[in-house]
Amino acid sequence: MNILDAETKVADLVTHRPSLSRLMDRLGIDYCCHGRRSLSAACADKALDVKAVLEQIAQSLEDPAEKTLQDLNLTQLVEHIVSLHHDYLRECLPLLSRQVERVAAVHGSSHPELIEVRRIFHAFSSEMLEHMAKEEQILFPAICRLERDGHTQVPLQRIIGVMETEHGQSGDALAQLRELTRGYAPPEGACTTYRSMLSGLAELEEDTHLHVHAENHILFPRALQLAT
Ligand SMILES: [Fe+2]
Ligand SMILES: [Fe+2]
Repeated sequence: MNILDAETKVADLVTHRPSLSRLMDRLGIDYCCHGRRSLSAACADKALDVKAVLEQIAQSLEDPAEKTLQDLNLTQLVEHIVSLHHDYLRECLPLLSRQVERVAAVHGSSHPELIEVRRIFHAFSSEMLEHMAKEEQILFPAICRLERDGHTQVPLQRIIGVMETEHGQSGDALAQLRELTRGYAPPEGACTTYRSMLSGLAELEEDTHLHVHAENHILFPRALQLAT
């Protein structure tokens, strides 16, 4: 991208250079639900030196250009989101759910925060499954039809507004899980299942950030633009 300064939107950085998502996650900068903020505002929020962050970003931008989701049309983008992120969630949530249950049952008395982890995880999981069903049954077919036929009867703006609100709620749940688990760090003496649960939750967070970013900042704005 041509313009890189402290006023660049965080989401735009990741849209143009997807691998920057890892740096953002490492720095604790939310590029999906709060990605429409400038880099300077995001850094101020996390007490980070914006100049040092800009230098790290500039270094990454020296690497060869990457393929981005902007190269896909809307139907391909929908297929990408479903096959990469929705299928991943349908596979990982039941496995992770069993681990969260087991770890809370075994270690909940010595680590009471695990009871809260279990409550938040289960709410996240059932809300996300319902959310994906709405996208796959109503919103995504409407977007594909809009691209194919040039029109749709579905009120895109209203449904996208609801989806973005739900993304915000799932982002809040993940932030709470990160805080409760101290950044998914295993406590001393944690058993294999406990460690595996924490790395599974960390992976869930990373994937959900990319998933929400692809919808909030690439798919939805392009669909709305096409609809007007
Ligand atoms: Fe989705
Ligand atoms: Fe979504």
